[in-house]
Amino acid sequence: MSSKNDNPDDEVLCFCSGVRRSKIRALYMQGMDIRGIADMTGALTGCGGCEWEIEYYLQELEQQGIKPHR
Ligand code: FES
Repeated sequence: MSSKNDNPDDEVLCFCSGVRRSKIRALYMQGMDIRGIADMTGALTGCGGCEWEIEYYLQELEQQGIKPHR
């Protein structure tokens, strides 16, 4: 485990669409699921290679007790 920030907001999670972690979190906070996020951003609509990464990040937010504002 490193002590540096492993989840930088500006990290691109979907290279096909260029969507960054901060954008995915913002949409999650608005109550969107992975399909909604894909529709809004174009993430997952290219090669699909980012799917597990985005899903994992959403699970991580949930596990941290970060809840969407619904
Ligand atoms: S990296 Fe996200 S669809 Fe290709």
